[in-house]
Amino acid sequence: MSRLAIQCRAVEKSYGSGGERVRALRGLDLDARYGELLMIAGPSGCGKTTLLSIVCGILQADKGEVDLLGTRLSTLGDRALTAFRSTRVGFIFQQFNLIPTLTARENVAMPLVLNGHPYSTAQKQAAAMLDRLGLKDRANHFPAQLSGGQQQRVAISRALVHNPQLVICDEPTSALDAASGLATMRLLREAALALDRCVVVVTHDSRIFDFADRIVSMEDGEVTSIRGQSAATPIKP
Ligand SMILES: Nc1ncnc2c1ncn2[C@@H]1O[C@H](COP(=O)(O)OP(=O)(O)O)[C@@H](O)[C@H]1O
Ligand SMILES: [Mg+2]
Repeated sequence: MSRLAIQCRAVEKSYGSGGERVRALRGLDLDARYGELLMIAGPSGCGKTTLLSIVCGILQADKGEVDLLGTRLSTLGDRALTAFRSTRVGFIFQQFNLIPTLTARENVAMPLVLNGHPYSTAQKQAAAMLDRLGLKDRANHFPAQLSGGQQQRVAISRALVHNPQLVICDEPTSALDAASGLATMRLLREAALALDRCVVVVTHDSRIFDFADRIVSMEDGEVTSIRGQSAATPIKP
């Protein structure tokens, strides 16, 4: 069992071919430890979303290896990979990605329902998670009836409701004003992080850098620097 939540080694990924070929990742190494909130920063187009997609097995690397929560992703078949992702990982995106025709509670319950939990249990757990994130009185509202910050809190609730060991966030604060962005990060640290857990946040929002234990900077498909020392000690999960 790896002592790292994420270990990427020499990961390469290109899109297209011939003259159109874009080298999105150029032999990238990345470690994320248990107990830390790791940020990945860098300009638009440097490969951050590609990296996240490969880390969680949505995209396959052309070369290199990814170990996620102690499992080498290349050893899993499609079904096992989907099951692994839907039970062990939570996702938060810039645009919240809530289903507009479902209430906040129904949105949050969705990952549990998809993982085969009975509907009533899923609804109860979803309500409890919304309560924990301060949205008890918004559980029956539809996304359009909520502010951006509230919608992102619903999205965080949905990402955490199945108790994932890894939470992956792609630009989670870019669509929010400064105060909502800071509140979102505070909540994320409090609710998602523990000694046996890891949170990875891709961002180019320098306002939220203070919430990171370490910041990995990327440029043009490569890691260019790593800042900060995590207070967290890597431990066996
Ligand atoms: N599906 C795709 N097809 C072709 N090129 C892509 C695709 N996705 C991303 N790219 C290219 O790969 C590079 C990295 O993109 P991306 O990982 O989205 O960067 P970031 O998230 O840092 O903005 C960019 O040059 C982008 O244009
Ligand atoms: Mg991106």
